[in-house]
This record gives sequence, C-alpha cells and structure tokens, in this order.
Amino acid sequence: MSRGIYVVGNWKMYKTAQQAADYIDELDPAAKTSSISVYLAVPFTSIHPAARAAKGTHLVVGAQNMNDAQEGAFTGEIAALMLKEAGAEFVILGHSERRRLFGETDAFIHKKIQRALKDGLRPIVCVGEDAQEREERLTEDVLKKQIAECLASLDEESMKQVVLAYEPVWAIGTGKSATAEIAESAHAFCRQCIAELYGEETAELIPILYGGSVKPDTVTHLIEQPDIDGVLVGGASLDPKTFSEIVLNSESVK
Ligand code: PGA
Repeated sequence: MSRGIYVVGNWKMYKTAQQAADYIDELDPAAKTSSISVYLAVPFTSIHPAARAAKGTHLVVGAQNMNDAQEGAFTGEIAALMLKEAGAEFVILGHSERRRLFGETDAFIHKKIQRALKDGLRPIVCVGEDAQEREERLTEDVLKKQIAECLASLDEESMKQVVLAYEPVWAIGTGKSATAEIAESAHAFCRQCIAELYGEETAELIPILYGGSVKPDTVTHLIEQPDIDGVLVGGASLDPKTFSEIVLNSESVK
C-alpha cells in the first residue's frame, strides 16, 4: 500500500497574481519536478497565473474555498467550475479559519465536499480540535464528529478522491507544532474513523496530512510516522526557498 507523500502550501490571503507567478519562478527546480505531490492553494485571482507559471512542472494549483452551489445568485461567492476553468485541480475545505471566522458548519462543509467531487475538484478536508477541547480531552470526540458529518454518505469512488488534513487549531500560526507522536496518534484515530464509515480498505487509501506550524526542520519526523502522509503548510509556504526546503526534505523520507 502506498498513499504517496503530499506537501501542500496554503498561502491564505497572501500574494497577488504577479507575486504568485514570481514565486513559482523562484521555487527550486528540484521542488518543481519532485516525485512527491506538491500542491499550492492560492488566492482566487492567483489561480490562473499560478497554473500558467506551473505549466511543464509537477506543481498542482488549487483553491482555498468555494461555494456549495453549482451557480446562482450568491453575491461574492465562487463556484467549483469557475475554479476549475481557471486552472485549479483541488480545493481546501473546512479550514479552521473558515469555521471560526466565517461560521462554516460541518453540514455546510459536507455540501461543499459533495459539490467539489461532482464538479471535478479534489477536496482537502480539514479537521482538528482547539486548545480548550484538547485540554478537556475532547480531541477524539471532536475529530469523530467532524469526520462523520463532513464525510457522511459519499459514494465509495468519490471517497477515494478525498484528502483529509488533521490541523489542530492550537498549532496553526502559533509556531507550536504538534509533536510527531501527538500528530500520529490523532492521524491513526482519524483513519479508524474513516474505516468505521467506509471500511478498512478505503481508510488505507486516504492520504491524511498534518498541518500546524510545519517547518523545514520538523517535516521529516512528521512524515516518518506511518499514518502521516504529508503536510499542509501555511506560514512556511510563503517563502519559495523555505517551501522548496520542505518539499525536498519530505521527498527524502520514503
Ligand atoms: P501554519 O498554517 O503552517 O501557518 O501554522 C497551517 C494552515 O493553516 O494550514
């Protein structure tokens, strides 16, 4: 069984279209043609220029959010088909910043996942507990509920397209990464939750990424863990040199 290794950069609301193209030019050529999966989740207006700059490399460009409807009167929203035509191949859904700052619920995220799968974008679905929930030993309850509600009743074939990301909220943007051991234990639990919903075989196929203050010097030990199939990187993905280093360190693991 090989799920491969993923390194996903999440730029959040950073980088204009021009900066996105410059960034891709500045990535290490070895990172651009890496044998692992290197994804970049960029702002909407940077998707097209990033995808154009990534032509001829192995980089995969995607988005950070979308609406659940195919189209409609939803001022200010964006549809999966629009992202796809601009050059996106995947979309991050359910990031904790969307949940916390924009009130997204598991039920809404579930609808977005269904739409992404239907309209041809690979969803990277984020789950994770906050500091208080960890303190109160509720991590497993939170993960189980988020996974069950976000990933409920997808058909088997669609489910195989899903990437899960365990992102403990207390580790995001804080410089306080989970240790590889803490992350591995949460990942193994997430995989068990998927097995309960879709069976062992499917659970073994789903990549589960870790996110939260990943840096070039912490990535190797994380990826060495049996249930950690890659990383979702925020702050450290903004500098092309640092991100290249994360990609190359990850590639050296397996
Ligand atoms: P961070 O963000 O690497 O800056 O902690 C991770 C994320 O939000 O995906």
